Amino acid sequence: MNYSIKENVLTISKSDITLSLVILKEDLFHFFEKKKKSHTITKTRRAKHINIDDLGNKIKIFTSLYDIYIEDDFSISIYDGKTKEIVVKDNKYVDTKEKVISNEQKLLLEKEGHSFSNTLTYSYIINKEIQKNEAFYGLGEKTGYFNKINYQYVNWNTDDPSAHVDNYEALYQSCPFYIGKHKHTYGLFFDDTFKTIFDMGTDLKNIRIKGTLGSLDYYFIGGKNITDVRKKFVDLVGVQTMPSKFMLGNMQSRWSYMNKDEVLNVVNKYEESDIPLDVIFLDIDYMDNFKVFTYNNETFNDLPSFIKLLNSKGVRVVPIIDPGVKVEKDYFMYEEGMKNGYFAKDGKTTYVGEVWPGDSVFPAFTNKEVRLWWGKHVKDLMDLGISGIWNDMNEPSSFKGPLPDSLTFKGDNGKTLGNLEAHNIYAHYMSKATFDAILEHTNKRPFVITRAAYAGTQKYSTTWTGDNQSIWEHLRLAVPELLNMGLSGQSLVATDIGGFGGHTNKELLIRWAEFGALSPICRNHSAAGTRSQEPYTFDDETTSIYRKHMKLRYSLLPYMYDCFYNEQFDKVPPMRPLLLKYPNDVETFNINYEYMFGPNLLVAPVLNEGETKKMVYFPDTFYDYYTKEKYTKGYKVVDAPLDKLPLFVLKNSIIPTYKSSNHIKESYDTISLEVFGNLGSYTTMYDDGETLDLSKNDLINFHVKNNVFSVTYKRYSSDTHYKKVNLLYREKAYEFELDGTNQTFTL
Ligand code: GLC
Repeated sequence: MNYSIKENVLTISKSDITLSLVILKEDLFHFFEKKKKSHTITKTRRAKHINIDDLGNKIKIFTSLYDIYIEDDFSISIYDGKTKEIVVKDNKYVDTKEKVISNEQKLLLEKEGHSFSNTLTYSYIINKEIQKNEAFYGLGEKTGYFNKINYQYVNWNTDDPSAHVDNYEALYQSCPFYIGKHKHTYGLFFDDTFKTIFDMGTDLKNIRIKGTLGSLDYYFIGGKNITDVRKKFVDLVGVQTMPSKFMLGNMQSRWSYMNKDEVLNVVNKYEESDIPLDVIFLDIDYMDNFKVFTYNNETFNDLPSFIKLLNSKGVRVVPIIDPGVKVEKDYFMYEEGMKNGYFAKDGKTTYVGEVWPGDSVFPAFTNKEVRLWWGKHVKDLMDLGISGIWNDMNEPSSFKGPLPDSLTFKGDNGKTLGNLEAHNIYAHYMSKATFDAILEHTNKRPFVITRAAYAGTQKYSTTWTGDNQSIWEHLRLAVPELLNMGLSGQSLVATDIGGFGGHTNKELLIRWAEFGALSPICRNHSAAGTRSQEPYTFDDETTSIYRKHMKLRYSLLPYMYDCFYNEQFDKVPPMRPLLLKYPNDVETFNINYEYMFGPNLLVAPVLNEGETKKMVYFPDTFYDYYTKEKYTKGYKVVDAPLDKLPLFVLKNSIIPTYKSSNHIKESYDTISLEVFGNLGSYTTMYDDGETLDLSKNDLINFHVKNNVFSVTYKRYSSDTHYKKVNLLYREKAYEFELDGTNQTFTL
């Protein structure tokens, strides 16, 4: 085989094909055809020394953990270094043509007047052999079930308003990353922003990853288990931003609250109904003629004073900003952008698509100058007193249909990107522009929520799953969809509670709110023309059950906040499949409808109409959160009346809570702890809820065992501190004063 090694880069060439390999770590390998700059990986890593054995018709590269064999036909197989078992294996590498129909079918189609090629050519096709009992996870925001095996998905950010059913191939986001789990666990990340197709084994034998125009460029990520692989993937593309505390509060939205009175009415009704609320969203109608960075001077006149009023009621405001800039003479965004050539071009002219304001042009966020310009307007908007920005329609979506392939976007360093390369990272860069501006302006954790994304967008933004429908099918879809997004790095995620399209109904809204209460972001949103979806617009029972579950969420705030804080370090998503904690329990491999929130809570939401009991799989011994009933390992049927979210706590753990309030508070002086079982240990973080400095907090460990309760400060650097701790242990309540030093109490 013809290969060379230069500066620790192994390059193999044969006819017109070149494949390079860089060993970045003992379990992180980069394979690529051409060296290029990643749009998402920001850290450069040094190539490690390559250990190689030349075996004649193939070569073996080895690290302390894996053996990599590359054959003459460029196929790559990776084996576990110790057991010598297959981790992931190519069938054949150089195979860029695919037969889609037979010659007979082609002739028939031609007879009917269609012209059809019976082969499609891709820029690469990778065939990976499916191993025995292999399951696939990840792939970001996709429909279907938790285990992605046997489905095909397309990475091409798409705004298709039809219902997201399980064989829907593309949603709004692209994350060309999957995790394979059989006896060994690994991840493959294809850092290809062009359209890619991930056929996860429709032929039952191979997964086929197909590039349409991009060059082959992928990372093999090895790991002991899924948690480990996810951690390494996140280390590569970036961890989810740490939320401010208020971002874990309840949020209400609608397309649209048409004027200030409607917004105020919602906030007042929430207040009267005694339902917690922290954020209200302003959808497109707050703007003047849908022109971004403006507001309607009649319906939302003196917006800053109005925002102040809402803030004084404990509610923050987050407006929507779409990328499409209205084509209108003398409109500052249009004029400034045109003057400087900031919009996407078709040939020499600025491309005009159509979004809410009518004819619209699309900023080239792929360029730094454009991002800074946009960011300047973001800062001006922040000055109105808003608390974050909602970025939508940024696939980008246009009513004139997909943006033409021929469009060009200004890139960085004098480069130009064609639409096919820029499309999947459009929202990624829009999020970056927004995030960077808010960060610079406020010096606090920015709240950005985006609809479209690429792998790694979580370092700039949170996200939601777009336009779902008010149907039970979509409530069921929500669980595996959010779980796989979590495994793909996106852990601050939401679904529109109650469903976006179509009229919701009482029972569906209640069950969705129960699930929403234990989801990472909790936001009720619905489309124009649908019935009101705020809880109090139903009946007393709905209001009361909604209240109960939002209060449950607010009481669990210290626990949820700790989960997001811990993710910054351990890289485990707060909402996580059972599989993460129980990787050897085969029952957990295909669980679609229950999950864990953090290390100790098991959530089993009811997702079917009329259901008042639920079959729950317990991977260990758990206690009912409310009744303390004990469940041992196995499948059990639990009671789930309409007003109850089935929620369980792992034995021998501690759950921290706050006295529930209707708005997230600036500071809390009391923390309550409940011990489930005979002992427990729990470390909590306490800070002001918004500081960027993740060491400016108190880190306190609480430990209970054999009737001894100890409090150990691992750090004491917050501005305010807990003063009191309430402890519930073996059905007895205790109260202790905290004095900021390590203390031990006998119970
Ligand atoms: C898109 C968004 C939806 C929003 C609507 C109007 O459909 O997904 O959330 O309400 O646009 O802005």
